[in-house]
Amino acid sequence: MTTGITLNLQRHYLTIAEHMRTIISFDGEGRPIVAFRHGTNYVRGLSGEVLRKRVLAPGQKERRKLDDAERRTILAELLAETERMIEQIETTAPLEARNWLERIRRWDVERLEAERERFRSVYKPISILPPDQYRALVLQATEGCSWNRCHFCTFYRDRAFRIHAPASFRDHIQRVKEFVGAGLGLRMAIFLGDANALIIPQPRLRELLQVVHEEFTIGPEANFKGIYAFLDIFGAERKMLAEYRELAAAGVRRIYLGLESGDETVFRLLNKPGSPAEAIEAVRTIKAAGIAVGIILLVGAGGERFAAEHVQHSLAVLAAMPLGPDDIVYLSPLIVPPDSPYLAQLQAYGSSPLPETAINRQLEELKRGARAVVSPGTKVVIYHIEEFVY
Ligand SMILES: C[S@@+](CC[C@H](N)C(=O)[O-])C[C@H]1O[C@@H](n2cnc3c(N)ncnc32)[C@H](O)[C@@H]1O
Ligand code: SF4
Repeated sequence: MTTGITLNLQRHYLTIAEHMRTIISFDGEGRPIVAFRHGTNYVRGLSGEVLRKRVLAPGQKERRKLDDAERRTILAELLAETERMIEQIETTAPLEARNWLERIRRWDVERLEAERERFRSVYKPISILPPDQYRALVLQATEGCSWNRCHFCTFYRDRAFRIHAPASFRDHIQRVKEFVGAGLGLRMAIFLGDANALIIPQPRLRELLQVVHEEFTIGPEANFKGIYAFLDIFGAERKMLAEYRELAAAGVRRIYLGLESGDETVFRLLNKPGSPAEAIEAVRTIKAAGIAVGIILLVGAGGERFAAEHVQHSLAVLAAMPLGPDDIVYLSPLIVPPDSPYLAQLQAYGSSPLPETAINRQLEELKRGARAVVSPGTKVVIYHIEEFVY
């Protein structure tokens, strides 16, 4: 009898599917990681959060983290579906898969939900990562943001900035390893958290990177291909070429900078540290050291009054940066956090927020414009912050 159920056993994950209508994948510990069911996608992060992604109408997508009740309901449904599928194939599955299915069966909703507390004992909240790093292993070399005053950004308002000492960093890493367990195989890179780990003074950063290398093998042949981090522009101007070269030698492969806008006025309105001109200089230095960059632009920043200048000057700044095939330009549509000073700031500058349709138009304009000014091969991609779950 054919069941319509297929198992896909990979080195670091197992997928079980029924007629490709229900697809659920699990990490090496047996925890669900992604699922597709009734036309809806779910992503469950290490934090235990579940993101739901679905198309509501043509051109209208929902990307939302589920609340506690919704999350428990969907986890219960997914686990029940899983059990039903396992029962149909367990006797015919190869031995290696059967062992994995047993690990999957050990999870129930309560145990999955208890992971949230375990996560909180290991990590401070992981507020955001660049989209190409969603599957990185985050190591919080710092906690929070050393600046924490950009008017549109509330990611790190809940914690004070702190740099780990080597001993406490090693302790954090060991707890991360224990928590992630066999799920480590899914993680392809190390991301040094939080908002701008590369602001750490070089002697301390050297020690912390040494700890990372003692705990993990990193390199083109290893599971972890490299080390990645955010850097705010204020910090970037402080490191010299020789220091970036040292970071490149220590495995740092790409640095992400929130430029947000190439327009001086919008930049000030946002209260970003540094300036667009300093961002260009920082990118030149980083690239000269052999490290790639990810440049983030904030779509809709500055509102109605500065829309034209924001686009024009942001594209001019991108054109002045020596971006190549390893580099990425991210376009992040602005979502105004209700508790941020951004709207008051717009008003003080005589501007007003762009409606969603205008933000979408600006997104297209920046996408086309960026592709025209960067060299062929540089990726220009959209960065939806609501899509992030770790
Ligand atoms: C952690 S932050 C930036 C990293 C680094 N601290 C910096 O400023 O360069 C990551 C990115 O998230 C985006 N972001 C932050 N708040 C946002 C918001 N309210 N709406 C849309 N994007 C936002 C910004 O583009 C920002 O550069
Ligand atoms: S955008 Fe970057 S520098 Fe600004 S507050 Fe957020 S994390 Fe800090």
